[in-house]
Amino acid sequence: MLDAGGLFGKRTLMEKEQSRFLCEVTSEFGYDAIGLGDEDLNYGIDFLREAIAEYSLPFTSANVFETATGELLLPEYLKIKRGGITFGICSVLDPDLPITTMGKTESPVEVRDPIATLRELIPRMRDDGIESIILFCHMGDKKTEAFLNQVAGVDICLAGNSRRPYSSERVVGKTCLISGSFEGRYMGQLKGDFEKSTGKLKAFEVDITKLDEKFIEEATMLARIEDFKVHLEEVRLNARGIYKPTKGSDKEQFLTSRECRKCHRSTWDTLMQSAHNSAYTTLSRKGQADEPECLSCHTTGYLYKGGYDEKPPANRLAHVQCEACHGYGTMHSRDGSMLERARKSCVVCHNNEDCSPDFDYDVYWEKIKH
Ligand code: HEC
Ligand code: HEC
Ligand code: HEC
Ligand code: HEC
Repeated sequence: MLDAGGLFGKRTLMEKEQSRFLCEVTSEFGYDAIGLGDEDLNYGIDFLREAIAEYSLPFTSANVFETATGELLLPEYLKIKRGGITFGICSVLDPDLPITTMGKTESPVEVRDPIATLRELIPRMRDDGIESIILFCHMGDKKTEAFLNQVAGVDICLAGNSRRPYSSERVVGKTCLISGSFEGRYMGQLKGDFEKSTGKLKAFEVDITKLDEKFIEEATMLARIEDFKVHLEEVRLNARGIYKPTKGSDKEQFLTSRECRKCHRSTWDTLMQSAHNSAYTTLSRKGQADEPECLSCHTTGYLYKGGYDEKPPANRLAHVQCEACHGYGTMHSRDGSMLERARKSCVVCHNNEDCSPDFDYDVYWEKIKH
């Protein structure tokens, strides 16, 4: 039983928790080998290592190296015997895929050239008594096909990072290529006819099954999923618990900058062009949009009553909007107090040591003045 990789979820706290559950269940399915996808590094090396140790997940990768040590991150290949044939299973990751790890600015791994890697590795696998070589190519369907033309000696290749579900089997050179699908929606079965003496694949047949409503949900698994959802909600609330909206006033409201636009059109135009208007996007790009400790400076009114929350309608207060500096729009006093508040607001977020070491009021104001 094989998986070409990409098991883990997106870079958010909630999906990280879900990925733990996914690892637990995946381990029970009894996989023989799992390739390494870029997604599997979303939560960093330590998370991956812990998951592998706790759930005995058979991850493998031949071209991903830990930057800190220069060592291979995972077993270079796996060797298993089935039906009298010795299989070697290896995996390569596309070096062009960006590796972004939650909470880190730099990638913790180096992805080396997969062609050079395999040209060197395959003969060594043969020397190790391997008769049939199975490769996970985590580089998408099209790229894998081109790639296989440059690497000889692979018997069966499973393309990962691919969205081609149906009847995708092809022969490229002497390799049988099949493409994986996504989100566990399909299951493929390859029946091979192998030559006894050499282990060579002579003929094969592929069946792809869509895991749709035709399959009855398993009751114990459903119950576990329900339990897990309860747990997930607890995790969410715990993360929020220490970050309750206690500041500000119940009487006032944040109106969003769209409201201010009605009368302050040119100021709104200025805001739209500033980095403030993409502050939340910066977090989602980093995969940290649901981390409470980031939201207070990258959204409007977070921790204030009526301020930003991920649930609508308060999610309209994403980014640094007018009221992040001027305060509640419903106040709208004309006595200079909203200006005074705004002048003092900068350093609440641009607090010199951490986030904005170069902050200088005059220089920064010049960039957003209105
Ligand atoms: C609610 C928090 C918050 C407040 C208040 C705030 N900022 Fe910012 N500011 C940010 C964040 C977050 C960014 C980074 C946005 C991004 O790139 O995602 C930023 C970016 C900027 C930038 C762009 C920096 C660059 O080099 O492109 C300028 C200029 C700036 N702020 C000026 C100010 C000034 C002046 C004030 C006060 C009048 C102020 N900010 C108040 C959060 C805040
Ligand atoms: C105390 C307020 C504050 C907190 C908390 C905060 N940031 Fe920021 N962040 C800023 C400000 C201000 C800037 C703009 C710095 C500048 O340009 O001078 C910024 C800039 C950034 C940038 C660079 C934007 C760019 O131009 O590419 C990233 C990335 C970022 N923050 C991510 C995060 C993440 C992730 C967290 C949570 C772990 C976080 N921030 C928490 C205030 C904050
Ligand atoms: C990053 C913080 C920040 C944001 C965001 C911001 N302002 Fe301001 N705004 C200020 C500061 C600071 C001043 C006062 C500058 C001064 O006079 O010293 C100001 C001044 C003003 C003034 C008075 C201008 C004048 O002619 O004297 C108005 C009106 C105003 N802002 C409206 C808005 C509106 C509307 C938005 C949203 C579209 C907005 N501001 C967004 C910080 C901000
Ligand atoms: C119905 C029209 C209207 C809307 C909506 C509106 N304003 Fe104003 N605002 C005005 C007028 C008129 C003034 C006074 C003239 C001026 O100073 O430009 C003013 C003045 C201001 C001032 C300067 C206050 C002072 O003490 O000098 C700020 C700051 C301001 N508005 C912010 C906002 C913000 C933030 C929003 C959105 C939450 C907003 N306004 C929405 C009409 C509006």
